[in-house]
Amino acid sequence: MIKPILHRFDSVGSTNDVALEMAREGSPEGTVVTTLSQTKGRGRRGRQWVASPGESVILSAVLRPKLSIERYQELAFAAAVAVAEMVETECCLQPKLKWPNDVLVRDRKLCGILVEHTDGAAVVGIGVNVRQMEFAPEIADTATSIALEGGTCTDTAKLTEALAERLFAVYALEFKEILARWRKYMWGAGRLVEVVSEGGSVSGTIAGIDDDGALLIQTDDGQRRIIAADAIRMFR
Ligand code: BTN
Repeated sequence: MIKPILHRFDSVGSTNDVALEMAREGSPEGTVVTTLSQTKGRGRRGRQWVASPGESVILSAVLRPKLSIERYQELAFAAAVAVAEMVETECCLQPKLKWPNDVLVRDRKLCGILVEHTDGAAVVGIGVNVRQMEFAPEIADTATSIALEGGTCTDTAKLTEALAERLFAVYALEFKEILARWRKYMWGAGRLVEVVSEGGSVSGTIAGIDDDGALLIQTDDGQRRIIAADAIRMFR
Protein backbone atom coordinates (compact mmCIF):
# COMPACT_ATOMS: atom_id res chain seq x y z
CA MET A 1 0.00 0.00 0.00
CA ILE A 2 1.13 3.55 -0.72
CA LYS A 3 2.47 5.37 2.32
CA PRO A 4 1.46 9.04 2.39
CA ILE A 5 4.26 11.61 2.45
CA LEU A 6 2.88 14.75 4.11
CA HIS A 7 4.09 18.21 3.08
CA ARG A 8 2.85 20.59 5.79
CA PHE A 9 2.31 24.33 5.31
CA ASP A 10 0.99 27.10 7.55
CA SER A 11 -0.78 28.88 4.70
CA VAL A 12 -1.17 28.37 0.96
CA GLY A 13 -3.57 29.66 -1.71
CA SER A 14 -5.15 26.27 -2.37
CA THR A 15 -3.66 22.88 -1.47
CA ASN A 16 -5.08 21.59 -4.77
CA ASP A 17 -2.99 24.15 -6.66
CA VAL A 18 0.17 23.20 -4.73
CA ALA A 19 -0.48 19.48 -5.29
CA LEU A 20 -1.22 20.02 -9.00
CA GLU A 21 2.07 21.87 -9.37
CA MET A 22 3.96 19.12 -7.49
CA ALA A 23 2.28 16.49 -9.70
CA ARG A 24 3.37 18.38 -12.83
CA GLU A 25 6.93 18.42 -11.48
CA GLY A 26 6.79 14.63 -11.07
CA SER A 27 5.97 14.15 -7.37
CA PRO A 28 5.09 10.53 -6.72
CA GLU A 29 1.76 9.04 -5.84
CA GLY A 30 1.41 9.38 -2.08
CA THR A 31 2.38 13.06 -2.01
CA VAL A 32 -0.03 14.88 0.30
CA VAL A 33 -0.18 18.66 0.74
CA THR A 34 -1.74 19.88 3.97
CA THR A 35 -2.05 23.33 5.51
CA LEU A 36 -3.49 25.18 8.49
CA SER A 37 -5.16 27.72 6.23
CA GLN A 38 -5.95 28.52 2.61
CA THR A 39 -6.34 31.99 1.16
CA LYS A 40 -7.97 30.76 -2.08
CA GLY A 41 -9.67 27.48 -1.08
CA ARG A 42 -11.67 26.18 -4.00
CA GLY A 43 -14.95 24.28 -4.02
CA ARG A 44 -16.91 22.65 -6.80
CA ARG A 45 -18.52 24.70 -9.58
CA GLY A 46 -16.20 27.65 -9.04
CA ARG A 47 -17.34 28.21 -5.46
CA GLN A 48 -15.01 29.33 -2.67
CA TRP A 49 -14.11 26.99 0.22
CA VAL A 50 -13.57 29.10 3.32
CA ALA A 51 -12.22 27.99 6.72
CA SER A 52 -10.52 29.86 9.56
CA PRO A 53 -6.92 28.81 10.28
CA GLY A 54 -6.48 25.54 12.19
CA GLU A 55 -10.17 24.62 12.21
CA SER A 56 -10.23 22.05 9.44
CA VAL A 57 -8.53 19.09 7.92
CA ILE A 58 -7.31 20.49 4.60
CA LEU A 59 -5.42 18.14 2.34
CA SER A 60 -4.77 17.38 -1.31
CA ALA A 61 -3.32 14.04 -2.39
CA VAL A 62 -1.50 13.25 -5.63
CA LEU A 63 -2.68 10.02 -7.26
CA ARG A 64 -1.57 8.46 -10.52
CA PRO A 65 -4.47 6.12 -11.26
CA LYS A 66 -4.52 3.72 -14.18
CA LEU A 67 -7.91 5.08 -15.22
CA SER A 68 -9.12 7.13 -18.16
CA ILE A 69 -9.86 10.75 -17.20
CA GLU A 70 -13.61 10.05 -17.59
CA ARG A 71 -13.32 7.66 -14.65
CA TYR A 72 -11.45 10.01 -12.32
CA GLN A 73 -14.70 10.71 -10.47
CA GLU A 74 -14.32 7.19 -9.02
CA LEU A 75 -11.60 8.77 -6.89
CA ALA A 76 -14.20 11.02 -5.28
CA PHE A 77 -16.10 7.92 -4.15
CA ALA A 78 -12.88 6.56 -2.62
CA ALA A 79 -12.28 9.90 -0.87
CA ALA A 80 -15.84 10.02 0.50
CA VAL A 81 -15.52 6.48 1.89
CA ALA A 82 -12.15 7.35 3.46
CA VAL A 83 -13.65 10.43 5.18
CA ALA A 84 -16.72 8.53 6.40
CA GLU A 85 -14.60 5.69 7.81
CA MET A 86 -12.17 8.13 9.44
CA VAL A 87 -14.98 10.17 11.02
CA GLU A 88 -16.68 7.03 12.32
CA THR A 89 -13.48 5.44 13.66
CA GLU A 90 -11.62 8.45 15.04
CA CYS A 91 -14.56 10.65 16.10
CA CYS A 92 -17.28 8.08 16.93
CA LEU A 93 -19.85 9.88 14.74
CA GLN A 94 -22.24 8.32 12.25
CA PRO A 95 -21.67 10.00 8.90
CA LYS A 96 -23.80 9.53 5.79
CA LEU A 97 -22.77 9.90 2.16
CA LYS A 98 -25.03 11.98 -0.04
CA TRP A 99 -24.48 11.07 -3.68
CA PRO A 100 -22.01 11.52 -5.15
CA ASN A 101 -19.59 12.56 -2.43
CA ASP A 102 -20.93 14.88 0.24
CA VAL A 103 -20.22 13.68 3.77
CA LEU A 104 -23.11 14.59 6.10
CA VAL A 105 -23.82 14.31 9.78
CA ARG A 106 -27.42 14.97 10.87
CA ASP A 107 -28.17 15.99 7.26
CA ARG A 108 -25.55 18.75 7.41
CA LYS A 109 -22.41 18.95 5.32
CA LEU A 110 -19.18 18.06 7.14
CA CYS A 111 -16.78 17.77 4.25
CA GLY A 112 -16.15 18.80 0.66
CA ILE A 113 -14.22 16.86 -1.98
CA LEU A 114 -12.75 18.27 -5.19
CA VAL A 115 -11.01 16.05 -7.76
CA GLU A 116 -8.87 17.78 -10.39
CA HIS A 117 -6.22 16.52 -12.80
CA THR A 118 -3.08 17.42 -14.71
CA ASP A 119 -0.72 15.51 -17.03
CA GLY A 120 -1.87 11.99 -16.11
CA ALA A 121 -2.09 12.69 -12.38
CA ALA A 122 -5.17 13.31 -10.26
CA VAL A 123 -5.37 15.53 -7.21
CA VAL A 124 -7.97 14.70 -4.60
CA GLY A 125 -8.67 17.71 -2.37
CA ILE A 126 -10.54 17.20 0.88
CA GLY A 127 -11.73 19.75 3.43
CA VAL A 128 -13.29 18.46 6.67
CA ASN A 129 -14.88 20.88 9.15
CA VAL A 130 -13.42 19.97 12.53
CA ARG A 131 -13.34 22.74 15.14
CA GLN A 132 -15.81 25.31 13.76
CA MET A 133 -18.47 26.32 16.29
CA GLU A 134 -20.30 28.57 13.85
CA PHE A 135 -20.51 29.16 10.12
CA ALA A 136 -21.15 32.12 7.81
CA PRO A 137 -24.87 32.98 7.61
CA GLU A 138 -25.25 31.60 4.07
CA ILE A 139 -24.23 28.08 5.16
CA ALA A 140 -25.20 28.21 8.84
CA ASP A 141 -28.25 25.98 8.26
CA THR A 142 -26.52 23.40 6.09
CA ALA A 143 -22.96 22.99 7.46
CA THR A 144 -21.61 21.28 10.54
CA SER A 145 -18.29 20.32 12.14
CA ILE A 146 -16.93 17.42 14.15
CA ALA A 147 -16.86 19.64 17.26
CA LEU A 148 -20.48 20.76 16.79
CA GLU A 149 -21.56 17.13 16.47
CA GLY A 150 -19.74 16.13 19.68
CA GLY A 151 -17.04 14.08 17.94
CA THR A 152 -14.53 12.46 20.28
CA CYS A 153 -11.45 13.78 18.41
CA THR A 154 -10.96 17.35 17.21
CA ASP A 155 -7.18 17.22 16.80
CA THR A 156 -6.77 18.35 13.18
CA ALA A 157 -3.18 17.06 12.88
CA LYS A 158 -4.14 13.59 14.08
CA LEU A 159 -7.23 13.51 11.86
CA THR A 160 -5.19 14.67 8.84
CA GLU A 161 -2.76 11.77 9.28
CA ALA A 162 -5.57 9.28 9.84
CA LEU A 163 -7.40 10.51 6.74
CA ALA A 164 -4.30 10.43 4.52
CA GLU A 165 -3.58 6.82 5.55
CA ARG A 166 -7.17 5.78 4.99
CA LEU A 167 -7.42 7.53 1.63
CA PHE A 168 -4.58 5.43 0.20
CA ALA A 169 -5.95 2.26 1.82
CA VAL A 170 -9.36 2.79 0.16
CA TYR A 171 -7.76 3.87 -3.14
CA ALA A 172 -5.97 0.50 -3.26
CA LEU A 173 -9.33 -1.33 -3.37
CA GLU A 174 -11.23 -2.30 -6.51
CA PHE A 175 -14.00 0.15 -7.42
CA LYS A 176 -16.57 -2.58 -6.75
CA GLU A 177 -15.39 -2.83 -3.14
CA ILE A 178 -15.24 0.98 -2.79
CA LEU A 179 -18.90 1.16 -3.88
CA ALA A 180 -19.84 -1.62 -1.46
CA ARG A 181 -18.34 0.42 1.38
CA TRP A 182 -19.95 3.61 0.03
CA ARG A 183 -23.41 1.95 0.07
CA LYS A 184 -23.06 1.21 3.80
CA TYR A 185 -23.13 4.97 4.46
CA MET A 186 -25.66 5.95 1.80
CA TRP A 187 -27.84 8.92 2.70
CA GLY A 188 -31.47 9.10 1.72
CA ALA A 189 -32.38 5.60 0.54
CA GLY A 190 -36.16 5.60 0.05
CA ARG A 191 -36.44 9.37 0.48
CA LEU A 192 -38.47 11.42 -1.95
CA VAL A 193 -36.16 13.91 -3.65
CA GLU A 194 -35.85 16.24 -6.60
CA VAL A 195 -32.61 15.82 -8.54
CA VAL A 196 -31.74 19.03 -10.35
CA SER A 197 -29.30 19.07 -13.26
CA GLU A 198 -28.61 21.12 -16.38
CA GLY A 199 -31.05 19.04 -18.41
CA GLY A 200 -33.95 19.59 -15.99
CA SER A 201 -35.14 17.89 -12.85
CA VAL A 202 -36.27 14.40 -11.86
CA SER A 203 -38.48 13.64 -8.86
CA GLY A 204 -38.68 10.25 -7.22
CA THR A 205 -37.30 8.15 -4.40
CA ILE A 206 -33.63 7.28 -4.02
CA ALA A 207 -33.27 3.60 -4.93
CA GLY A 208 -29.49 3.23 -4.68
CA ILE A 209 -26.39 3.48 -6.85
CA ASP A 210 -25.44 1.12 -9.67
CA ASP A 211 -22.08 -0.54 -10.32
CA ASP A 212 -20.78 2.53 -12.15
CA GLY A 213 -21.68 4.80 -9.23
CA ALA A 214 -24.70 6.36 -10.99
CA LEU A 215 -27.64 7.38 -8.79
CA LEU A 216 -30.86 5.40 -9.27
CA ILE A 217 -34.14 7.26 -8.82
CA GLN A 218 -37.45 5.44 -8.81
CA THR A 219 -40.02 7.63 -10.54
CA ASP A 220 -43.68 6.99 -11.38
CA ASP A 221 -42.50 6.03 -14.88
CA GLY A 222 -39.75 3.61 -13.83
CA GLN A 223 -36.14 3.85 -12.74
CA ARG A 224 -33.94 6.75 -13.91
CA ARG A 225 -30.13 6.65 -13.90
CA ILE A 226 -28.45 9.94 -12.96
CA ILE A 227 -24.77 10.44 -13.77
CA ALA A 228 -24.42 14.12 -12.76
CA ALA A 229 -26.52 16.57 -10.78
CA ASP A 230 -26.28 20.12 -9.51
CA ALA A 231 -28.41 19.51 -6.42
CA ILE A 232 -30.53 16.89 -4.68
CA ARG A 233 -33.41 18.48 -2.77
CA MET A 234 -35.49 16.71 -0.21
CA PHE A 235 -39.27 17.03 -0.23
CA ARG A 236 -40.27 17.72 3.37
C1 BTN B 1 -16.99 21.29 -2.40
O1 BTN B 1 -17.36 22.30 -3.04
O2 BTN B 1 -17.80 20.64 -1.71
C2 BTN B 1 -15.57 20.83 -2.47
C3 BTN B 1 -14.68 21.57 -1.51
C4 BTN B 1 -13.24 21.06 -1.53
C5 BTN B 1 -12.37 21.82 -0.56
C6 BTN B 1 -10.99 21.22 -0.47
S1 BTN B 1 -10.06 21.87 0.88
C7 BTN B 1 -8.63 21.10 0.27
C8 BTN B 1 -8.62 21.30 -1.24
N1 BTN B 1 -8.08 22.58 -1.60
C9 BTN B 1 -8.98 23.35 -2.20
O3 BTN B 1 -8.77 24.51 -2.63
N2 BTN B 1 -10.18 22.73 -2.26
C10 BTN B 1 -10.09 21.40 -1.70
